[in-house]
Amino acid sequence: MSTPRPPSANIRKKPKKQLMVFSGRANPGLAQEVAAELGTELVPTSAYDFANGEIYVRFEESVRGSDAFVIQSHTSPINECIMEHLLMVDALKRASAKRITVVMPFYGYARQDKKHRGREPISARLVADLFKAAGAHRLICVDLHTDQIQGFFDGPVDHLMALPVLSAYVRRTYGTADVVVVSPDAGRIKVAEQWSKQLGGAPLAFVHKTRDINRPNETVANRVVGEVRDRIAVLVDDMIDTGGTIAKAADLLQREGARAVVIAATHAILSGPAVERLQSCFAEEIIVTNTLPISPEKEFPSLTVLSIAPLISAAVKEVFLDGSVTSLFGERA
Ligand code: R5P
Repeated sequence: MSTPRPPSANIRKKPKKQLMVFSGRANPGLAQEVAAELGTELVPTSAYDFANGEIYVRFEESVRGSDAFVIQSHTSPINECIMEHLLMVDALKRASAKRITVVMPFYGYARQDKKHRGREPISARLVADLFKAAGAHRLICVDLHTDQIQGFFDGPVDHLMALPVLSAYVRRTYGTADVVVVSPDAGRIKVAEQWSKQLGGAPLAFVHKTRDINRPNETVANRVVGEVRDRIAVLVDDMIDTGGTIAKAADLLQREGARAVVIAATHAILSGPAVERLQSCFAEEIIVTNTLPISPEKEFPSLTVLSIAPLISAAVKEVFLDGSVTSLFGERA
């Protein structure tokens, strides 16, 4: 009779890491693209809503020991999307995934990152805390509204920039001669500086914008600081929500003598009147990425959508292989 091997003989074997990619219901197209770039498929997942609005999720195969990447864009209805994302993380934690990386192509509530007045929440911080409490070990985000949101999450945050994707397209299509990079507000001038480097040292300008804190999504584009006359103005922003900020800036640039305006923004939220405003403003092209889903009725001829999937999948690969995400951005990230 053979003696049974002591259990430790098997346990000592180093387990293989297993990459698993999960998607919520917000932007499955993007998640599928990411999975395909990684040479894998999304883990089959059941998700549905109860009659009272509660969300149910379950993964249809074992996730034990996995290196899990959970992708969900925080699109409209944003609170449901965030809740579904949290539930997926909780399910992974309780099903013994080894490491859980939350992939947020668009980080919901990022604009509420500080108190402007007393008795306000810091909602962007709360979102980070919720994901931590649910069991997230790390985050991958694209173009956070402000860099310091990285510090809201107690763990590693890989902050990806859509700049290489957007600027390569602009360079290919419009060249770099006669270009001026324009920031729609003074706060984003640092991002505009990075754009300028990508566009052969193009000059910079910014719009002096003011807002009434009692009226969300309403801004006034007062004047342009910098020389834009007879130039192609590349107007860069992190997001287009109702389109008010960017459309007003484009029209102001026309009044200031810009030869053409091209808008480049990472996140196409496109709420309410956005499509109408973008179509009727002076911009000849609006270039965005698919960090958020864009429904067919929101597409229009001058809208160009570039895929962010290759960048996200490259970052996932680096994280999985313990490589370097910074190297994806020529050490600038
Ligand atoms: C503002 O700080 C942001 O960067 C965007 O410019 C703004 O949130 C876009 O909102 P909307 O399109 O509604 O003007």
